[in-house]
Amino acid sequence: MKKKFIPVSKPYISKKDIISINKVIKKGWISSDGPEVKKFEKAFSKKFNRKFSVAVSNGTAALEIAIKALGITKNDEVIIPNFTIISNAISVIKQNAKPVLIDCDIKNWNIKIEDIEKKINKKTKAILITHIYSFANDMDKILGICKKNKILVIEDSAEVIGLKYKNKICGSFGDLSTFSFYANKQITTGEGGMISTNNKKLFEKCKSLRNLCFGKINRFDHDDIGWNYRMTNIQAALGLSQIQNLDYTIKRKIEIGKLYYKELSKNKNIYMAPPSISYSKNIYWVVGILIKNKKVLASKIIKKLKNYGISSRAFFWPMHEQKVFKKMKLFKGKKYPNSSYLGRYGFYIPSFLEIKNSEIRYISSIINKLL
Ligand SMILES: Cc1ncc(COP(=O)(O)O)c(C=O)c1O
Repeated sequence: MKKKFIPVSKPYISKKDIISINKVIKKGWISSDGPEVKKFEKAFSKKFNRKFSVAVSNGTAALEIAIKALGITKNDEVIIPNFTIISNAISVIKQNAKPVLIDCDIKNWNIKIEDIEKKINKKTKAILITHIYSFANDMDKILGICKKNKILVIEDSAEVIGLKYKNKICGSFGDLSTFSFYANKQITTGEGGMISTNNKKLFEKCKSLRNLCFGKINRFDHDDIGWNYRMTNIQAALGLSQIQNLDYTIKRKIEIGKLYYKELSKNKNIYMAPPSISYSKNIYWVVGILIKNKKVLASKIIKKLKNYGISSRAFFWPMHEQKVFKKMKLFKGKKYPNSSYLGRYGFYIPSFLEIKNSEIRYISSIINKLL
């Protein structure tokens, strides 16, 4: 008999989602030029307490548009976390601006707030803050620093759709906030993303950049260099249906995370993010495990888990150690010990909505055995 394999993630597509997609396909509304895109944007703004939202083709596109919409350009500096997805750095580099890295906090894996002000200078135009894996950043502190130093905030909320900082939803703090709807996210459209804001001018600029900056009078006399980063109506129909399931998704994710925490937190050889900290409840987008023993690399455990039919993934690899950035001679000679540690000793385990509690217990027992 073939051994059962537990995937690390799996999208949850309901019957309602399928009906919603079928409806628009049957009507022929398959490109971006369909009513569901606007409906999804409106529903998203409402859920995320924002005036405006712009649906785009993915979360990386959302970041690229956001950086350009804020007027960030050559000689500008943008502070970003070192422990994050490469899309953060790329969006800054593509506008010929300079990403300035900050190490992560070893406890919550977000940017190390104490280090932010040390890196602010006259060239600093913005901070790109990313909520990583589990917890919100301490937004009161971050917004305070930004206000004091007059710098803009881009809030990457790709991984935390539905997470709250204190009682306010993440993705409602930035001058521009961005989201991803990739298949492993709390809301998925297959591929997809969103930018949200309360600023009408920025909203108009993002909309224009998403759609090749077509001219307002003569359509084919373009205003700026934009992209075709449009979301299709089929994707929006799925998003519109998925957003209605978000509260259940978060509820189940928390149950999954808490059960893992119960099974694994007594293990002294690993660290797991707890169910809550003072300003944020963990919604466990992913269930991350950090190995304390520096003799055991995460890659070794990932391989062993595979033999037990369990899929898992390594944490992000820090920006200053990226092959591509070394070739570009970026971030040379600087050390970021916490990010380097997380990149080598962190991994996350299956936490998709339909995982069975018995599977969670099985995975936990194997981790406790291996570590
Ligand atoms: C924090 C963060 N930002 C941006 C992205 C990019 O999103 P996408 O894969 O939709 O381009 C991701 C992807 O997972 C992410 O984790």
